[in-house]
Order: sequence, then structure tokens, then C-alpha cells
Amino acid sequence: MSKARVLIVEDENLVARDLHNMVRLLGYEVTGVVQTGEEVIASLNQKKPDLVLMDIVLKGKLDGISVAAVVWEEYCIPVVYITSFADDLTFERAKLTEPFGYLIKPFEERELELTIETALYKARMQLLLREKEQWLSTILRSIGDGIIVLNSEGLISFINPVAQRMTGLDEKQALGRKFEQVFRLKDQNRQPADFEPFSLRESVLISKDGQEIPIEQTVAPLPPDMAVGPGQVIVFRDITARKKAERELQDSWARLQRALQGTIQAISITIEMRDPYTAGHQRRVAKLAEAIGKELGMSEAQLEGLKLAAEIHDIGKIYVPSEILSKPTKLTELEYTIIKTHPQAGHEILKTIEFPWPIAEIVLQHHERIDGSGYPRGLKNGQILLEARILAVADVVEAMASHRPYRPAFGLDRALEEIKLNRGRLYGPDEVDACVKLIEQKGFSLE
Ligand SMILES: [Fe+2]
Ligand SMILES: [Fe+2]
Repeated sequence: MSKARVLIVEDENLVARDLHNMVRLLGYEVTGVVQTGEEVIASLNQKKPDLVLMDIVLKGKLDGISVAAVVWEEYCIPVVYITSFADDLTFERAKLTEPFGYLIKPFEERELELTIETALYKARMQLLLREKEQWLSTILRSIGDGIIVLNSEGLISFINPVAQRMTGLDEKQALGRKFEQVFRLKDQNRQPADFEPFSLRESVLISKDGQEIPIEQTVAPLPPDMAVGPGQVIVFRDITARKKAERELQDSWARLQRALQGTIQAISITIEMRDPYTAGHQRRVAKLAEAIGKELGMSEAQLEGLKLAAEIHDIGKIYVPSEILSKPTKLTELEYTIIKTHPQAGHEILKTIEFPWPIAEIVLQHHERIDGSGYPRGLKNGQILLEARILAVADVVEAMASHRPYRPAFGLDRALEEIKLNRGRLYGPDEVDACVKLIEQKGFSLE
């Protein structure tokens, strides 16, 4: 590395000449020898040295200490003071300018070299540190999230521009203040100390002007062995847009659900208009099926699907001539065969609709029986969907309990007898038990 360049500031000519020689003999380049503070600044602008050797007492308006402050702060050049005395006051003032070294006259060459080298090293380190700090600070300031750093007493020691904007307080207003005075949450009882480190939490921040901002935040502890000491870093971001999108999604999902339910209901009414004797049948079956599903511990989502399937389970009857549906006498074998096509027909109608549940399959299976004696496919217990098994029980109970064109109502008691008798043969035992319990013990009513 080439030797450093040194500017000498000394108003005594003789001393200045000696110093000049000594510095050159040590191998440094002398960029100039000046006498006043004003000349220092001019010289710095012309030929930038690496270090300034300066007498504390100078002629002119500016003394060495005032000049040194400018030299380091504005030009980032270290200053080594040379003085023939060091009284306490001068020393105190000199300290404020971050001195890089002192030399008290007279001094040896070796002493001068050591002081210059130490000053250059210290200056390099300080500049490096300053650069790193600036780098870190630029990053923290340009991050899109709000960042607040707390010291061990919970006082704010750093707040970035985003955090200032969101809290409504600038650096001056926020620094040194208690965190909860600046970072006001709607739920005042919750403070960063209560938060699980690094876990993401949603809260509502109240800005200085009372604006409520939904945020998500994390709190990270600063370990005590760090240079800045123990404390906490709070990182938070505005989630207003996300919350709005979530709400809109929920609203549109609810609208879609309502539209779906409305459509199902319209279909259900259409079928029943053609078949007035079974009017209300699907609605009552849906009510009982849902209650059985609940009794069996089905999830809310599954219950929703079961209910919708039940509400249109006989949709395939749209293909059955209405004379057959409303025939007041017993059906012939052929007529019965035609009626038996309705689960398949219903499946055909529904299979292309993308429901979030297997609606078409439930409808197809609602006349299957667990011993395989049902139709259209003769499926057995494990092959039949739970929803279809529940629907089968509810369908039979409702049909027997109600009036039909070709027979009067058997009543609920007969209906329950039928399912109890065929429990485990035609109907799933759990589904039968749940249905019996609902009607006999829980006072369930079909209406
Ligand atoms: Fe049916
Ligand atoms: Fe039915």
C-alpha cells in the first residue's frame, strides 16, 4: 500500500518545516503546509489528503478544534492534533471532535509514525462501520413493512418510514417513547411481550388520527449479547387489501351458496308441481336426513351436501308420466318399472353439474339397500355412500308416514316399525338407530 498523504497545519514556520521534514522522512507525501483554518478547507478541496496533522492553536478566526470537526464530518479525513500543551478545557473540546490522536511537542519520529498509522487505521474502521450502518439503515428504511425496535425498557430506539406513516408519528415524536404510546392496538391488553416470538398475528392498529388499520405482525427478541443490547424488533404490515379481498371472497361464496340453494329449491318445486301427492316430500326427507346426519356426527360441509341431495333426490321423476305418479290405484309391474328408472334419470340430470359434493351419486344410490336388493345397481352396504344410506332411511320413513295417491298414510309408528324390522338387512343399523332415537326420544317432527 502506498504511503499516506498528509496535510500539515502549523502556524509556526520553524515547527512547520521540522514537521514537514519528519513526515517526508517517514515516507509520507505532504500535500501542503498551511497556517489557518480557512486555508485548510481550501487545501482539502484542491488536494485531498488522507490525514491532517494540525496544531490546536491556530491564527485566524477558526482554531484547530473547530476545523477538525469539519474535516472529519464533511471530508471524512482523520485529524491528529499537535499541541504544546493540553489543558483540561482544550482536551474536553478536542474530545468532542472524535480525535484520532494527539501529539504533544516535542515528539519523536517513531511516535509520529505510530500516531499517524493508528489514526489512519481508526478512521478506516470508523468509515467502514459508518458505511455498514448506512447500508443497514437504508435497507431498513426501504423495506415495505413497518419496523420498530425497542430497547430493554420497552422504549422505541428505531422506527422506519413505513412504521412512521402507519402510526402517524415521525421519528422525533416516536423515538424514546413507550411502545404502547406509539403502537396503539385496538386490543390494548396485548403487548409485544405477550406475543409468541416470531409467530404471525393479526391485530388492528390505531393511527394517531384514529384510523384503524388491520395489520399482521411478528415480534422477534434481540438477544442481550448484541451490540445494541436486549430488546425486541416488531415487524408489521398493512393487510387492508388482503382483508378486503378475503371479505369479497366470502361474500361471493355466500352469494354463490344462496344461488345454489335457490336453484335447488326451484328444481324441487318444479318436480313437486308435477307430482302434487309428493309435494313437500323432498323437503321433509331433507329435514330428517339432515337431522340423522347430525346425529351421526357428520361435518357441516357434509351435512350441506346431504341436505341439497335430499331436496332433489326424486328429480328423475320428471321423466315419469304424471298419470303414473298420481295414479290413485295400485301400480302395474310395468308402471313400477318406469318409476324405478328415476334414480338413474336423476343421476343423468345432475352428473354434469360440478357440486362440491357427490350429489348425482347420492341421488343415484338412494334406492339401494345394504343387502344388495335395491336398485338400480344392487349395491351392498360398504358400496353405498353414507349420505345415500341416510337418505334411504329418511325417504322410507317420510313416504310411509305420508299419504300417497294409492294408499292412506301409514303413520310414523308403522314407518319406524318398518325400518326397525329391516335394520341391518335393508337399512344401515347406525342410520336406523339415529332415526329412531330422533323421533322416539328427541321428539323430532317431519313438519
Ligand atoms: Fe325416490
Ligand atoms: Fe323420495
